[in-house]
This record gives sequence, C-alpha cells and structure tokens, in this order.
Amino acid sequence: MEKHYAVLGDPIQHSLSPGMHNAGYKALGIKAEYHRFRVKPGQLAQAVDGLCALGFSGWNVTIPHKEPIVSLLDSLTSEARRAGAVNTVKIHEGQRIGHNTDGAGFVRSVEAELNGFQAKKAVLLGAGGAAKGIALALAEQGMELHILNRTPEKAKELVQVIQRWGGTATAGEFAPGAWLEDVDLLVQTTSLGLLNESFPFSIQGISKGALVVDIIVNQRETAILREAKGLGCRTQNGLGMLLYQGALAWEFWLGGQAPVEEMSQALKGQFFERLFAKG
Ligand code: ATR
Repeated sequence: MEKHYAVLGDPIQHSLSPGMHNAGYKALGIKAEYHRFRVKPGQLAQAVDGLCALGFSGWNVTIPHKEPIVSLLDSLTSEARRAGAVNTVKIHEGQRIGHNTDGAGFVRSVEAELNGFQAKKAVLLGAGGAAKGIALALAEQGMELHILNRTPEKAKELVQVIQRWGGTATAGEFAPGAWLEDVDLLVQTTSLGLLNESFPFSIQGISKGALVVDIIVNQRETAILREAKGLGCRTQNGLGMLLYQGALAWEFWLGGQAPVEEMSQALKGQFFERLFAKG
C-alpha cells in the first residue's frame, strides 16, 4: 500500500522537502508520496485529525507549528521533549508520536567539518526556536556554548534550559567581543539571515579556523557568510541542516538508511533552480 507523508506550515509554498523526500522514495523504489499543505495557525488540530483520517503515516511540521503541535500528540521522544518542539510526527499503531530531528540534523551537517565537538566553543547568534534545538544538540555533544541575542533575557532563559539538561553555556551581548578570538563554530540563527542586507555588526577578528554557519535556505550566501569567507573562515548555509533533518525524519518513519546522496542532489537542484528563477 502506498504511504503518504507531508509537511505542514504557513508559509509553505517554497518548501524544498517534498522534492527531497520524493527523490529519496524514487531512488529506493519505495511506494510513497510526500505532500505539502498550507495550514494556518488556528487550524492545526483539524489538519492533524484530517491527516489521521486519511491514513497518513507521518508528517513534518514547520513554522509556526513546531510548538503548538506538542499538545496534539500522544507521546514525545526524548529529543522532542528536550527541545519542547516537534518537527516530525509518526503514526504508530494509531498513536501520534512527536520527534525532533532539527538539532541532530544540524549536528550531522557540521560534524565532518568540525572534527569532534567535545569542549569546543560554539557561539549562537539568536535565541529563538531554531537556536534552541541547535543549542541543546550541540551542548549534548559536549560543546561549550555562548549565546548572544538582541533581547538578552531570552539568551539567559536559553542558557538556563541548557544548564538544566547538564550543558555548559553563557549569555552575552548581541555584539562583537572577546568571543570572536576563541570560537570553533559560529551559528547565525536569527531571522536577519532572511533579509539580503548587511549584518548589524562585523565579525572581523574571528578565529581563522572557525566554521561559520547561517541556517537560512533562501539564498546561497548571506552577508555574514560573505564576510566570514573573506576573513578566511569555512562557511555553510542551511541546506546541510535541511538535508539531515529530513534524512533523520525519513529514518524515523521508514527505518534503514535514507538515501542521503539522492536527497542532497534533489535539494541542491531545487535550490539552484529557485535562485535562477529569482534572477
Ligand atoms: P526562529 O524559530 O526562526 O528562531 P523566532 O523564535 O521568532 O524564530 O526567533 C527569531 C530570532 O531572531 C530571535 O533570536 C530574535 O531576537 P529577539 O529575541 O531579540 O527578538 C532574532 N531577531 C529577529 N529580528 C532581529 C533583528 N532585527 N536584530 C537582531 N535579532 C533579531
């Protein structure tokens, strides 16, 4: 019987997930189809009931549903509990199980470049939903975190959450500082990455060996990545995180190993097609 999966969000028309997952099913000859549905904030409960009634095997959720969906599920994995957010739901024996692959997806996307996490230093720009999942996963890997956010209280709250789970973290001002000279991984998670404008501060003086990641996927290189590259750092955009959160969702649903190479090709193909279309 053909299986059905989907991604729910608002906005959702630019989601690259259907192309990525469908390419994976095709590569392995799996009878499944991945759909995309726009679900407005007030209509999540009806949408979830609808997917269950229609026999969907699972789905992803993205902005703005990652936290609201938690109360609509029967159980959560430890990753979802820790993040307080769900990006992947599986229907198993009629039960709705919530999982979160964002943090582990991020970890997988940087592990080859970082060559080990233990006691290395990560600086996160931003303390919103995206930062939280990434921060908890990096802390679990043994990285020491420094979190900078425009609203300092939110950075401090995130530090407390990390410490509660046994991690090491401090909060700082959303500005350049001594941290620049001693950073192994800098992650830009604020929504500033979405705007094709200059970043509010320069990262001049950053450690040459640092890996700089901006988790956005709507452009190839944000201002901060351009600056980092000019300063001799290695850089990554958000495609790697998108790929691995998808691959981990696949493995949660279907078991086995996701065809990462084919999924990556499909993702990159769509990404460049869209850049080209934008002109
Ligand atoms: P997401 O789930 O994508 O992380 P979010 O939870 O709304 O979205 O968080 C957005 C992040 O971008 C926050 O860290 C936010 O900072 P505040 O907590 O101070 O709002 C950050 N952000 C958004 N616009 C910003 C700006 N103009 N300058 C600095 N930070 C900004």
